[in-house]
Amino acid sequence: MIWPVFLQPESGSTPIPSMPGVERLGPDVLVDRIGRAKELGIPAVALFPATPPARKTPTGDEALNPENLICTAVRAVKKQVPGIGVICDVALDPYTSHGHDGIVQDGYVLNDETVEVLRKQAVVQAQAGCDVIAPSDMMDGRVGAIRSALDAAGFTHVSILSYAAKYASAFYGPFRDAVGSATNLGTADKKTYQMDPANTDEAIREVAIDLAEGADLVMVKPGMPYLDIVSRVKREFGVPTFAYQVSGEFAMLSAAAANGWLDRKRAVLESLLAFKRAGADGVLTYFAVEAAELLR
Ligand code: PBG
Repeated sequence: MIWPVFLQPESGSTPIPSMPGVERLGPDVLVDRIGRAKELGIPAVALFPATPPARKTPTGDEALNPENLICTAVRAVKKQVPGIGVICDVALDPYTSHGHDGIVQDGYVLNDETVEVLRKQAVVQAQAGCDVIAPSDMMDGRVGAIRSALDAAGFTHVSILSYAAKYASAFYGPFRDAVGSATNLGTADKKTYQMDPANTDEAIREVAIDLAEGADLVMVKPGMPYLDIVSRVKREFGVPTFAYQVSGEFAMLSAAAANGWLDRKRAVLESLLAFKRAGADGVLTYFAVEAAELLR
């Protein structure tokens, strides 16, 4: 289980209304919380920044600032929680004023121009000490481009966890609230770069391409509604296959449990077991700490 963690520049923590129990963590509480997760046996965290609106631009320049929220957090966590793995998303949506994962023109992302920025973003995050770079942007050709950029900068040991089969899903809504990209995105969608939920074969092609370009691990996302894809990817490629139990899945389970409609502990553990049964080697889940406590 890998724990996704939201970051804020302000000290303290801020609850996320659409994800009850999940908070954005400030620099003063982050290390403690992650230290606790480490003690519970969580091997890695995936960090996501909520960038102050004033720092967002159409080209997402803040992504390349070595002193930005994520790089600062990576340095603190690597220093103060020895042995924890740190995974950083590569995508521009926390930094763009329009909320898209790349640079946009006339409503479409500019694939190749975006990939050039993503290469630099990956290197900046590796320099901060990130162990695993996770491109979640779904641009074509980005895995190979990021691999060569990391290698050229001396980061041959930094792994790539590719969000290879990432669907244009309704289940990311609460995440966009958490990182503050929902208002930027407005009514726009990401269908020009994320996958069609009706398509299975394309997931296999996307995974094959990313592996050929040098991905070390591949991810399917969302999770529970897409376990057929997880299973097929694991069976066809036999590579480390991760799944992301996304924010909307967390919100559904939490809301039902809060209403007394589901037994929270049983439903949470059963949902995680289902990932394992489908063949997932790792699961990114907002329940990571809670589930680790239950399993203890
Ligand atoms: C951004 C990104 C998203 C998630 C992880 N990285 C949202 C999106 O693509 O809009 C979703 C995670 C979740 O919903 O929990 N590139």
